[in-house]
Amino acid sequence: MAMGHCFSLLTARYLPSPLHEAFISSTADMKSFLKVALCGLTYFTSALGQSCQTTTLRSTVPSDSNVALGSYSYCGGTFKATAYIANVNYNKVVTLYYTNRQNESTPLSSLTFGYSSSIDDGSWELWTTSTPVYIDGITELLNLTYRATDIGETYVQQLGLPVDATGAPEPTLAAPPAPYASPQGFSDDITDWLAVKGNPNVDSEAKLAFQRMFLNINPAVEGAVDGVVVAARSGPSYEQKDPDYEYTWVRDASLTMDVVATLYSAATKRKVKQQYEEILFEYAGARATEQNDPDLITGLGEPKFYLNNTAFTGPWGRPQNDGPATSAITLMEFANSYLEDGGDVNIIQERVYDSATYPSEAPVMKDLLFVASNWSSPSFDLWEEEESDHFYTRMVQRRALVMGSDFATKMGDPSTSAILSSAADALTDTLSQFWDPNREILLYEYGPVLKGKSSYLDIAVVLGVNHGYAGDGVYSYTNDEVLSSALRISTSFLDVYPIASTHTDSSGQVLGIPVGRYPEDVYNGTGTEENGGNPWYLCTAAMAQYLYSASNEYNDAGSITVTDVSKSFFDYFAPNAGLQAGQTYRSRSKEYRQAIDSLHGWGDAFMRTVKYYTPEDGHLAEEYNRDTGAPQGAGDLTWSYASVLTAAFARAEAIGRKPYVKHVANMGVEPNT
Ligand code: NOJ
Ligand code: NOJ
Repeated sequence: MAMGHCFSLLTARYLPSPLHEAFISSTADMKSFLKVALCGLTYFTSALGQSCQTTTLRSTVPSDSNVALGSYSYCGGTFKATAYIANVNYNKVVTLYYTNRQNESTPLSSLTFGYSSSIDDGSWELWTTSTPVYIDGITELLNLTYRATDIGETYVQQLGLPVDATGAPEPTLAAPPAPYASPQGFSDDITDWLAVKGNPNVDSEAKLAFQRMFLNINPAVEGAVDGVVVAARSGPSYEQKDPDYEYTWVRDASLTMDVVATLYSAATKRKVKQQYEEILFEYAGARATEQNDPDLITGLGEPKFYLNNTAFTGPWGRPQNDGPATSAITLMEFANSYLEDGGDVNIIQERVYDSATYPSEAPVMKDLLFVASNWSSPSFDLWEEEESDHFYTRMVQRRALVMGSDFATKMGDPSTSAILSSAADALTDTLSQFWDPNREILLYEYGPVLKGKSSYLDIAVVLGVNHGYAGDGVYSYTNDEVLSSALRISTSFLDVYPIASTHTDSSGQVLGIPVGRYPEDVYNGTGTEENGGNPWYLCTAAMAQYLYSASNEYNDAGSITVTDVSKSFFDYFAPNAGLQAGQTYRSRSKEYRQAIDSLHGWGDAFMRTVKYYTPEDGHLAEEYNRDTGAPQGAGDLTWSYASVLTAAFARAEAIGRKPYVKHVANMGVEPNT
């Protein structure tokens, strides 16, 4: 780092001067002063022959305020800055607001700082940020806001500082990579791996996933009550103690019970159908118990409960407002099948829907009304890490509201139906905010970079479509923005995981990309570690499921239309079809057939990756190691099993094997002892 000599000369004179104090408190003078003093306020670092300019505003703590920007630079698309923060309480949120290249200030145009070091015996702290913002640019710093959350105080330094990009140029969006393979069609190895063939004695991963999933529903753990789902076989009661997943998470339970609802609807053996029915009614009751728990800290968005179904009240990322939505979706799916089969509507009112009359038994109306009044509030994401406005959460909330509006009508409740449908419309109007034309993705959240997730890529977007598509054409599998996002997200892991360079299995068949939560992930399954994030089984299976579902949707539509936005998806996932933007390919065309075959080939390739990294005993943990592929994190993760089954169901539809789900369902459940 080379400092301009006029910097060191002038700084020494400048910083302690009274003018400096005046400068900080009067923003009006700031711009003109900056122009005069620029030489004295800057130093340069050399990068690729160009110089990076750092503007220093002060290098001591302020005497008249609790927050002050120290220095900043904007080089190579990365904004770096330091700030002086008075240590007035423990929990602090430090945010810098700016305007982007379009001179707009939006929820995306702000940056968060993190603690760096302590000053003056801890009475002050230095906070820093280093955030890539290259796609949007920064033109002016608006203000630096410091929220001392424990004492409810907010301190603001108005800035009004123009920012010029210096040093290395801002990077442009990289083109997606070229595909490393072009797998075609369904393969027997995956068909066999997922086989059930109407015979419960044929061993397969699908059968094992089914059995292991049911072991975790109403688990045989002391104190566990009916209707709960243990997230994994890892925790105090199990051989594996770490991590402690011995809870029923609202999200995991609802996604697992959604598989049970699918099995219920497909089962044709009376006895097994009754088993599923009983489990689902128990689940409805457990959800109602959770809603009425006196210790909910953040209301119905409370994310996890002990297995005796009382609220976990330790520190956690809460609320997580996807849970009430996915729980309601699952129970409405069940109730719809129950009623279609001639079930008694009064039983559904009493045990599923009508929370007003049966508050201790029927949870759905209450969860739906909660979604209707809270969807616009920020909450923690499905990974429990970031409080923001999340695409995943919005998508599942939307589906709950859309389904809920119809369901309430069916329940003879037009006023609730009206509330839900108007909330659905208002929510739908916000979804276009998530599309970022500069990055060519749906942002996983509409807000500033948090936790270093500056790529804005997260498989949560694909999961949001898998779990949240309401079947009404809004952000469906084949939406061009969704297609582009699926491409950019899945390929982002190629450079992140060393095992992604293994492209074939031992018989030379193509492996799909190992997929994790998001490229910047540092959670290794038990704690956090630098470069610690791993691919996850459920995230990899989600890509397979997504591709099968996209194929199913094209099949229903009878054609594929390619746009400028979706072209890159087809270039990667259907390279041999030669599809062009602006064209529609009918189902009889060669191009259409070729493209659909490729989606099937890649779908199976992603499933093959799950298979390849599944240990011999077939058990699925949460993750597989990024370097070795060995299972890692919580063992027997219920959601991993559920994700293999839902991907297998989507595959069966794509392959035209309707009875598959029925065969799985008819296996029936052994009671847990
Ligand atoms: C546990 C959460 O469940 C997980 O999603 C998160 O990544 C880790 N804690 C680390 O914060
Ligand atoms: C951590 C995951 O990030 C979260 O999505 C999940 O709900 C919990 N583990 C429990 O499986």
